[in-house]
Amino acid sequence: MTEAILLVGGKGTRLRPLTVHTPKPMVPAAGVPFLTHQLARARAAGVEHIVLATSYLAEVFEPYFGDGSALGLHLEYVTEREPLGTGGAIRNVASRLRSGPDDPVLIFNGDILTGLDIGALVDTHRDSGADVSLHLTRVADPRAFGLVPTDSTGRVTAFLEKPQTPEEIVTDQINAGAYVFNRSVIDRIPAGRPVSVERETFPGLLAQGAHLQGMVDSTYWLDLGTPQAFVRGSADLVLGRAPSPAVPGHGSDRLVLDGAEVSADAKLTGGTVIGAGARIGAGAFIDGSTVLDGAIVEDGAHIQDSLIGAGARIGARTVLDGAVVGDAAVVGPDNELRGGVRIWCGADIPAGAVRFSSDQ
Ligand code: GDD
Ligand code: MG
Repeated sequence: MTEAILLVGGKGTRLRPLTVHTPKPMVPAAGVPFLTHQLARARAAGVEHIVLATSYLAEVFEPYFGDGSALGLHLEYVTEREPLGTGGAIRNVASRLRSGPDDPVLIFNGDILTGLDIGALVDTHRDSGADVSLHLTRVADPRAFGLVPTDSTGRVTAFLEKPQTPEEIVTDQINAGAYVFNRSVIDRIPAGRPVSVERETFPGLLAQGAHLQGMVDSTYWLDLGTPQAFVRGSADLVLGRAPSPAVPGHGSDRLVLDGAEVSADAKLTGGTVIGAGARIGAGAFIDGSTVLDGAIVEDGAHIQDSLIGAGARIGARTVLDGAVVGDAAVVGPDNELRGGVRIWCGADIPAGAVRFSSDQ
């Protein structure tokens, strides 16, 4: 097993409030572009050749990761002119694969942070003789995912992407976004048009009687598709809850990158990351949050579970909880922003303009 496809394209809209110039996989998590963690984990599992299937803001990947040699990998990049969907993206890079028709190829969704034992998934694939093997995980609310019921041997019996009705919610097992495909299955995906692997390829294979094998694994797993999940994942990387060879050490309460200035009495906890050149004022409290490069947090600000964009400024005594503040936005002093609020890139909230608690 030496090669993999990493899916990092699509519409990429969900982090738009945070940044307009950076595709999601390149937003720093625990100090490095998120994709670094996936690449490093694949390498640690013995993968040597990875093809990045990109579409949205594709031009930023190659200048950063180059040929992959810094990570001990051989990386190739393929850019779709229009997004081809997950299955179309896989098919579109088939010519770059070196595997023979019966060889297994790993495929990863590019927005997943997980402790999956990649080698165990490959072993499951080989031992079961499946055409495709899927990493499955259990979640409390499966509606935003692909539901994957299996029989008592782990063989997949159906694939229900984003179920719409209560009757469709037949299991709490979901597609965790890591697969092993036999190369020949990739070659049979129709070329030159959009294909969803979840809505077309998997149901089609099942209808033809193909063998899809599920491997339920309850290790750390998070889809970083929302800014809130992104902040959580970054904090878990710093804390050591989410394993990544790209985060040295055994977990820490905070990560302060070179060139950041943090006041001596500021309190940083819960896996908070302070980006290069950021400034944190006196008495600031920051928990479970990510402050990107060059942002400024003024004295006495209280920030929890929030994402502060590059070059943004958070005014003195302002309270943020579950907030996303876009690059270069300004939130003036004495504001209170909670519960999923998103401040667009470059927006400017005046002093004392918003609060959630009663007036004082
Ligand atoms: N190259 C390319 N082209 N990549 C794409 C495209 C495309 O047109 N569309 C999506 N992708 C990539 C995304 O960048 C992401 O890494 C991955 O494919 C999955 O797409 P998402 O848009 O994040 O899908 P999702 O999170 O709603 O659902 C998928 O992931 C769930 C697990 O997080 C599905 O695979 C579900 O079945 C699964 O449960
Ligand atoms: Mg996703």
